[in-house]
This record gives sequence, structure tokens and C-alpha cells, in this order.
Amino acid sequence: MPPGPIIRRLFGPFERSITNIYRRTFVDLDHFATQMIVWVPRPHRILEVGCGEGAVTERLAAKYSDASITAIDINANIGRLFRPKNPRVTFAQKSAEEAAATSPNAFDLVVLCDVFHHVPVSDRSGMLSAISECMAPGGSFIFKDWTPSRTLIHSLTLFSDRYLTGDSVQFCTKAEIESLIVTIFGAGAIRAEASILPWPNNIAFLVRPDLR
Ligand SMILES: C[S@@+](CC[C@H](N)C(=O)[O-])C[C@H]1O[C@@H](n2cnc3c(N)ncnc32)[C@H](O)[C@@H]1O
Repeated sequence: MPPGPIIRRLFGPFERSITNIYRRTFVDLDHFATQMIVWVPRPHRILEVGCGEGAVTERLAAKYSDASITAIDINANIGRLFRPKNPRVTFAQKSAEEAAATSPNAFDLVVLCDVFHHVPVSDRSGMLSAISECMAPGGSFIFKDWTPSRTLIHSLTLFSDRYLTGDSVQFCTKAEIESLIVTIFGAGAIRAEASILPWPNNIAFLVRPDLR
């Protein structure tokens, strides 16, 4: 097991608060949630792909108080730190490809936050295609990831992802992300972009394909 999960469990009842403070060093998820609601104010059905332990899911449940939320991840620790329990939120251990097969065209909003750099390069376009299949006609996709830079904070991010979580991560540049999104969702599908606090490395895109 990589050292990250072992160290975190040693925090016992303080794990959730310490994890929140640690994460905030890299990204302000409350700012991300505020940006999402500006871009997509009233979705009814939301899919979060790669929800992990539920930090973004919590913000989605709080901000979108009428929406039903399906949060999926390939990892078994899915939704472990999500609080409070909410009957509108369903966690399931599955991939985007499995969600596309069981719930095609089902979601008004799909969210992918800080997942892409964990996905092997060879699987990335397949994941985005599956996300596009999950989206209802006229639906939106919000993509957020960390882009590399020659800075101390990027070195810390790399260290944290590679050595603490033990994942083999590979970050995309902004141009690489844009190019992949346009290839899968079509030219003009990127409707807006935003930098998420506190670092310019946090880049988010609002993607909405043209109705065919
Ligand atoms: C850094 S965590 C981010 C969790 C959550 N999105 C957040 O921002 O708090 C990355 C997550 O991506 C998940 N992941 C990696 N590859 C995936 C895939 N192909 N499909 C779904 N989830 C994946 C990992 O299991 C992990 O939980």
C-alpha cells in the first residue's frame, strides 16, 4: 500500500478535516463548486466520474439541492468521507464506460475533477467518449484538472500524487486537454474556461456539444 492512505488513517477522527485542509493547499473546491453553478445553474441529473472519497460530491449535493447525483469511481473507497448522508446521492463502483452502457443520454451535467491525470494516456479518449455518451442532448460537461508548470507547487503536486497516492500520474497541458475535448465533443464545444483558486494550474472547462 502507498504511504498516503496509511498516514491518513492514522489521523483517525481528524482524517476528514485534515484531508480537507491538505486538499485546499492545491485547490479550492468551494470556488470550483461556485463556478459550476454559474455555468450550469439547474441540472436535474448529475453524474460525477472519478468521485473518489466524495469531496466534490459533497459540494455538488450542497449547491444543487434539487438534483439527483450519481457518483462513480473504479476505486473501492468510493464516497468514504462523504457527509452528511443524502438520499439524492448514489455511489457506485463503475467506470464511465459502464455508466454509458447502463445510462446513455441520461445526465444534464457530467463532472470530472482531478481525475484525468490519473487515467492512462491510452484510456483518456475512451473515457471522454463514454462521458459524451452519458450526456443528455443539450447537457453539459465540466472538466477540471491540474496543468503542469515549472513551479514549486507543481513539484509538490507531483510528489503528492506520485509518492503519497502511489498512482502513476501524467499531467496534460492546457492545449492537450483542449485538443482532446474538441476531438471528442466537436469544434466549438468548449463554451468557457476558468482558473480555479488558489493556483493558475487549476483549469476548468465548460463543454457543451452542439445539438445534432
Ligand atoms: C485525485 S482523486 C479525485 C477524486 C475527486 N474527483 C475529487 O476531486 O475529490 C482521482 C480519482 O480518480 C479515480 N479514477 C482514476 N481512473 C479512473 C477511471 N478510469 N474511471 C473512474 N475513476 C477513475 C481514482 O480512483 C480516484 O478516486
